[in-house]
Amino acid sequence: MRHVLYSQQFDRSILDKLFRRADEFRRRMAVPSEKLALTQLHRGKTLFSVFYEPSTRTRMSFGAAAQHLGMSVVATENAREFSSAIKGESLEDTIRVLCEYYPDVIALRHYEIGAAERAARYSSVPIINAGDGAGQHPTQALLDLYTIHQALGTTAGLTVTIGGDLANGRTARSLAYLLAKFDGIRILFVAPDPLRMGSDIKEHLREKDVAFSEESRLEDALPQSDVVYWTRVQKERLGPEAADEELHSRFVVGPAQLELMKPHAVLMHPLPRLAEIPPEVDADARAWYFRQAGNGMFIRMSLLEWIFEGD
Ligand code: NCD
Repeated sequence: MRHVLYSQQFDRSILDKLFRRADEFRRRMAVPSEKLALTQLHRGKTLFSVFYEPSTRTRMSFGAAAQHLGMSVVATENAREFSSAIKGESLEDTIRVLCEYYPDVIALRHYEIGAAERAARYSSVPIINAGDGAGQHPTQALLDLYTIHQALGTTAGLTVTIGGDLANGRTARSLAYLLAKFDGIRILFVAPDPLRMGSDIKEHLREKDVAFSEESRLEDALPQSDVVYWTRVQKERLGPEAADEELHSRFVVGPAQLELMKPHAVLMHPLPRLAEIPPEVDADARAWYFRQAGNGMFIRMSLLEWIFEGD
């Protein structure tokens, strides 16, 4: 069974295959007759979309990806409040019950680190980790890497700045794991002191011989970077330090910071963005975050198909 639990599980040959297929889906979706033909591919399969935490992109793009492939979707949003979780039911019991209703795959977003792994132990169908608290968000990392590949034509030899709330941002963590698989990658982490990247990731990068450093000044990192991956402060996962506006005001990529970036660099963000990238930046050709979000659907189509190949 092909569970999708963490980004390290993908090797480069699977990534290549997923990206090629995502390219194909992108091309075919733009042609009405082809778009219709895609709905024959996985007819009769059902995605259960079970979200205990808020989501716009991940939930909607998984739903759209499934439906464009002809699948049906059974969904619960805000499951923390609207499901039997509020009555005290364990995740394990919920998953066991859901499996009685014949899903073919379950996309699960949960507020606890390790939730997807726990669910996978009790599930009779593949579980996709759509975000487990401050743990990982592997499908986001896939679409992030796919976007880098699309924008720059390569993944090897790049200098990638990853900044923002690295202590709590699961997308930054999953991306770092995935980047570690490519040659000549250099990662610059830029974060306010209380929000620095966790030691587990840094340990992993050392083990894999990936060059990385922690930069305290964004202005030093920007001119060196091919990719600038920016993230929001995860207020919902933080204590009172989240309110320190002065601290965060130093971690904004605005028009002045764009000036420091290479002409062909790529500015990415998993979204939602708050004040850390002001809207004035959107018109710059290097702002890729909306195209990046669009890529999420193609990658998720590709991923659903890859999971079914394992049946
Ligand atoms: C991210 C998440 O949920 O971790 N959103 C997303 O899936 N694109 C990023 C975030 O919430 O900051």
